[in-house]
Amino acid sequence: MRRVLASAPAKIILFGEHSVVYGKPAIAAAIDLRTYVRAEFNENGRIRIEAKDIRTPGLTVSFSEDQIYFETDYGKAAEVLSYVREAINLVMEEAGVQKGITVSITSQIPVGAGLGSSAAVAVATIGAVSRLLGLELSKEEVAKLGHKVELLVQGASSGIDPTVSAVGGFLHYQKGSFESLPVVELPIVVGYTGSSGSTKELVAKVRRNYEEMPEIIEPILNSMGNLVEKAREVILAEYDREIKFQLLGRLMNINHGLLDALGVSTKSLSDLVYASREAGALGAKITGAGGGGCMYALAPGKQSEVATAIKIAGGVPMITKISREGLRIEEVEE
Ligand code: PMV
Repeated sequence: MRRVLASAPAKIILFGEHSVVYGKPAIAAAIDLRTYVRAEFNENGRIRIEAKDIRTPGLTVSFSEDQIYFETDYGKAAEVLSYVREAINLVMEEAGVQKGITVSITSQIPVGAGLGSSAAVAVATIGAVSRLLGLELSKEEVAKLGHKVELLVQGASSGIDPTVSAVGGFLHYQKGSFESLPVVELPIVVGYTGSSGSTKELVAKVRRNYEEMPEIIEPILNSMGNLVEKAREVILAEYDREIKFQLLGRLMNINHGLLDALGVSTKSLSDLVYASREAGALGAKITGAGGGGCMYALAPGKQSEVATAIKIAGGVPMITKISREGLRIEEVEE
């Protein structure tokens, strides 16, 4: 019996979250935490989703040999299962078949941390199920289906998460179109506050502020858009790495200040941001919707110091790398 194993990465938004919802550009990168989905046919003709071991065994923090386990319970996170269900339905519709399929999920990505766990599970499911059904989808087509899944489950989404998870690397994203940028190996540390914010509520909060005080909020969103274009220029420029990191770090700090002004930071996020800067990071900012979730720091030569500072400040540090690869078919058993 045919079985397909596919995987898709988590992401961080490097610059431009929230303003991207208002049609401004954003830059995101895939990171090397992955969700794995195995798909196979079953005899009972139904869709079955297994997700027993959703923990993070492989995340080793550099200053100790501790393994961090994220107790993210997909059973509880029923929402995540709806991403899987919608993804399977959309692919079957695309293939014009209805079959019994069992999908088993394991993931290294903490749920609800703003690292795109829902998009990764949707993209890996689309990848595994489409291959099982013999459909040849391009990464762009997978990204589009992933965006559809998000719209069906959450109602609104810019589509940046499934796009970066499907395509991988660095992406400049605006209004549904993307450009792959050259991958800069950023020495980053992601800091997880341990709590999660609701993307939907935070997007709505910014919307309310915008509607009440457009003359104040609009310039902030414009400034964020300009900052993303500046970051794109720096990424594409021929500067040496040190200058590039310094400029990107400064832009990160400005972007964090603007996100704070929009009202999406929290004390724990800002604590991790300031602790990272004090420990030598060139820049540190929220990544994703805010209200909890994660921040990231750019810390060339200082990753373990910054990871320690994040831990002392109450966060969970993850030293991670940019993933060049998006959706990956790991194994096809015939
Ligand atoms: O919660 P996250 O990390 O998926 O971030 C969402 C990014 C927003 O710009 C806030 C919303 C969106 O749809 O782009």
